[in-house]
Amino acid sequence: MTKLAIIGGTGLTQLSGLTIIKRDKLTTPYGSPSAEFVTGEFNQKEVIFLARHGNPHTIAPHKINYRANIWSLKHLGVEQIIAVAAVGGITEEMTPAHIAIPDQIIDYSHDRKHTFFEDENYPVTHIDFTYPYSQKLRSALITAAANANISISPIGTYGCTQGPRLETAAEIKRMEKDGCNVVGMTGMPEAALAKELGMDYAAVSVIANWAAGKTTGEITMAEIEQHLHAGMANIEQLLKSFISLA
Ligand code: HPA
Repeated sequence: MTKLAIIGGTGLTQLSGLTIIKRDKLTTPYGSPSAEFVTGEFNQKEVIFLARHGNPHTIAPHKINYRANIWSLKHLGVEQIIAVAAVGGITEEMTPAHIAIPDQIIDYSHDRKHTFFEDENYPVTHIDFTYPYSQKLRSALITAAANANISISPIGTYGCTQGPRLETAAEIKRMEKDGCNVVGMTGMPEAALAKELGMDYAAVSVIANWAAGKTTGEITMAEIEQHLHAGMANIEQLLKSFISLA
């Protein structure tokens, strides 16, 4: 059976419904990963769970050791990664608490350790990143959503910003012109690193708020948490439905 990992973002520090079998604390040539790797049974299938921001949630998006996280998952034999992350909604359909399975990325982040291919351990390699996410995994997630009666957006472009601050209204206007539908801070380099190590990777974006300038009023952490809470109930159903397809 294909070995599956779920990376949980803000609002998903623990996977409820996971019966824990073991916890692995790993060290890597790239330093420490975000948290222990929790192996458990979820809907009767073995899954490895990682809290991207640590448990408790203390690691800011630009401080996450993406290379250590992805290297560790490869080391544990993971072949498929479902990456759950909170995002801001830019375009009309991306309303708070809605879910999107993006198919494209624009990377606006900077100064992150974004590749494995830079030292003597790996020869210089230019991966094909035309389609950044695994089409096979995305299709399975879209089918799983339909089976569970969860309304999702089956495509969308994810714009990755540096954070930890939220964006300005002008930045979001520019991102919309560029073709972004949602904005988050953790989608890159995570997706590229998984592809560098040959793992199937797909993102599940949970819309936590309207992006800057898309509503009047301030974007508050309380609002983000409230929408994430609503969206996460659907995420759990979606993941269960995905696993029952396997
Ligand atoms: N911008 C960037 N990242 C986010 C947002 C946002 O508005 N909401 C949740 N993660």
